[in-house]
Amino acid sequence: MSQKQNILQNKLPKHIAIIMDGNGRWAKGKGKFRIFGHQNGVKAVRETTEACAELGVKYLTLYAFSTENWSRPKEEINALMELLVSTIRKETPTLMKNGIRLQSIGNKEDLPAKCRKELEESIKETEQNTRMTLILALSYSAKWDIVNSVKEIAKQVSLGLVKPEEIDENIINNHLSTAAYPHPELMIRTSGEQRISNFLLWEIAYSELYFSSKLWPDFTKEDLFEAVINYQNRERRFGKTSEQMAQSV
Ligand code: FPP
Repeated sequence: MSQKQNILQNKLPKHIAIIMDGNGRWAKGKGKFRIFGHQNGVKAVRETTEACAELGVKYLTLYAFSTENWSRPKEEINALMELLVSTIRKETPTLMKNGIRLQSIGNKEDLPAKCRKELEESIKETEQNTRMTLILALSYSAKWDIVNSVKEIAKQVSLGLVKPEEIDENIINNHLSTAAYPHPELMIRTSGEQRISNFLLWEIAYSELYFSSKLWPDFTKEDLFEAVINYQNRERRFGKTSEQMAQSV
């Protein structure tokens, strides 16, 4: 029986972020090339996107390609970029049908022209959709984003538009590529690894972390539901005591 019915609508995370890890190991376990793992990872992308839309989660961010991933073998990078292009092209009609808006974070300039074009077209086509926002982190790393934010603010200081003493969390936040989205309440990483790998460092200051031992291509809707139930059973205190939290509801 599906775990979906055990999910409380009034405690649903607005934003879930996922580090999709384990494609390579999944393929290796089957005696195949790494790209076979990425190809099968697309099914898990579909499953989790559908699961989030069904539940009513408003934002889903997927770590699809990190700044550090550029140092992988050239053939793997090319195959991943091809896969991104074909997946975005193939899935855009489904995004339209389901009211899902596509967005991206990361350095688009780094992407091959074909990939950037496909991405930008899909972002444009889906921009009026309001049911859910799917954010692809592509050529993204949190430190890259924070450095850019600091550079932008420094420019404004040098132009006299902002005083150094005015710099606060909001100003830094508003210059990140994630400024338009709420911070994720839940971050999931698959494959049994327990680290953040330069993903959304600023935004996960108070996120709940959930580590699944499943390799990404094996991650299903039910696994997503299980992660949400686990999240709903946690007490989020934001530095306060349990008693203070009880008083504030
Ligand atoms: C991590 O597994 C996975 C990636 C770096 C790529 C994820 C890409 C996809 C699932 C393909 C398409 C995605 C979208 C959003 C269209 P890994 O290669 O690091 O695995 P390993 O740790 O076992 O080596």
